[in-house]
Amino acid sequence: MNETILKGILEIAYLIGSVTFVLGLKMMGNAKTARRGNLIGAFGMTIAILGTIFLFSEELVPFKLILIFAAIAIGSIIGWITAKKVEMTKMPELVSMFNGMGGACAALIGLIEFPHIINKMGPSHEGTGSLAFIIAGMVIGTISFSGSIIAYLKLAGKMNTIRLPQYNIINNAILLGILIFSVLIVFNGVTFPIYIVWVLFAVAILYGILFTMPIGGADMPVVISLLNSFTGLAAAFGGFLYQNKPMLTGGILVGSAGTLLTLAMCKAMNRPLSNVIFGAFGGGGAVASGADVTGNIKDIQVSDLAVMLNYSKKVVIVPGYGLAVAQAQHIIHELEKILEERGVEVKYAIHPVAGRMPGHMNVLLAESNVEYDKLVEMEDINPEFEQTDVVLVVGANDVVNPAAKTDPSSPIYGMPILEVDKAKHIIVNKRSMSAGYAGIDNLLFYDPKCSMFFGDAKKALTELVAEIKTL
Ligand code: TAP
Repeated sequence: MNETILKGILEIAYLIGSVTFVLGLKMMGNAKTARRGNLIGAFGMTIAILGTIFLFSEELVPFKLILIFAAIAIGSIIGWITAKKVEMTKMPELVSMFNGMGGACAALIGLIEFPHIINKMGPSHEGTGSLAFIIAGMVIGTISFSGSIIAYLKLAGKMNTIRLPQYNIINNAILLGILIFSVLIVFNGVTFPIYIVWVLFAVAILYGILFTMPIGGADMPVVISLLNSFTGLAAAFGGFLYQNKPMLTGGILVGSAGTLLTLAMCKAMNRPLSNVIFGAFGGGGAVASGADVTGNIKDIQVSDLAVMLNYSKKVVIVPGYGLAVAQAQHIIHELEKILEERGVEVKYAIHPVAGRMPGHMNVLLAESNVEYDKLVEMEDINPEFEQTDVVLVVGANDVVNPAAKTDPSSPIYGMPILEVDKAKHIIVNKRSMSAGYAGIDNLLFYDPKCSMFFGDAKKALTELVAEIKTL
């Protein structure tokens, strides 16, 4: 086929790819359209990949084509099986691992293209721009790769938080070294031996590990999101290098979405981004501190709770990590429906970091077909608690802990919370008095308005629904 026509078709394929990424991302902003948005983005990616394989290069001999499709098949099968099998509570680990693979791809591009460009450059400085893209993409992608693998190991409980003495100074010195080394290579690449790129790669791997290792507890999701934005940036540099529009669009979208999410999570967890970037990771996470909590707790029997809910006007359900662990999303929806049938107004209060990943509760409840309009964000539901008869907290802990507002010594002090203590009655369902993710006691459980409804969420709610049906 005529070369101009081929190029034209390729441009159209790339345009379809880029537009579908934007469209898909937009649709993912709403639970109702998220699934379709994901498929549309994947469709665009397929078009862009096929366009690149068949139209971008004329040098593809059948053997190379076989290799490419074998790699695609292996990657797709592993990705498909892993994503199908993963439990919702293990999603952050999966995101971290997949993100690491994206970083590795960007790193490989840099390692492979570096010798090509150096050989092309010869003694001249022509091509410095391309070299800068290669080095930037390689370094950022590598940091994202090794950092994400460490994040995966930590989230999966296979590695502990390790803080070397003076880790802040060590990390920042290595980062500065990487920056200086990179600039030297970009401007004097041809004077260095070709293996220099591998040295830079090794140092970037080390930095990614050291950067992520000291981060503990509640800061972890922020770091994953930050590493995600790094991968996007690294891919965007690849897009510049190859003048490839979908790669550029995809990279920029991932980079900017990751950055926005990082900032949103920092705000929700009350940790300044500078703390995350420069390694001042004090407090946070499982470092239990804060004031000692004393007082009495009381529990409530299922029959009393059933009556209380049945005769309420307004009930707000606060889902948390325990709901996800117990897989109680379907039974909670059943509870909501039966209460609505009895004329009770039911809403869900969604905290931005409830659960273990951004949007965890939205995804979980969408899975059991809870109407999206019933999920109310923290800022909107907080003023409603005063008019709420019963707040039912299911498997949530940190996101309703008043210490975040009242105890400056608490590791979660300053984190915005769901102000459930303003409701007329508070019921907390969990299995025991164990702490949540931040590892701290919860003052709420000792509130005179609060009663504990002990038990595994799925089992306890099933009994509750059965009891309400008898009324
Ligand atoms: P958590 O504070 O982690 O509390 C969850 C509670 O669920 C625990 O206290 C546990 O108590 C209970 N639970 C566990 N299994 C249960 C079961 N089968 N049935 C009933 N209850 C069960 O949860 P949260 O309030 O959702 O807060 C989230 C925390 O995770 C925050 O600290 C947040 O910063 C952090 N975090 C968030 C993210 C994102 S982005 N969402 C990512 C990582 C970390 P028992 O053991 O007594 O049952």
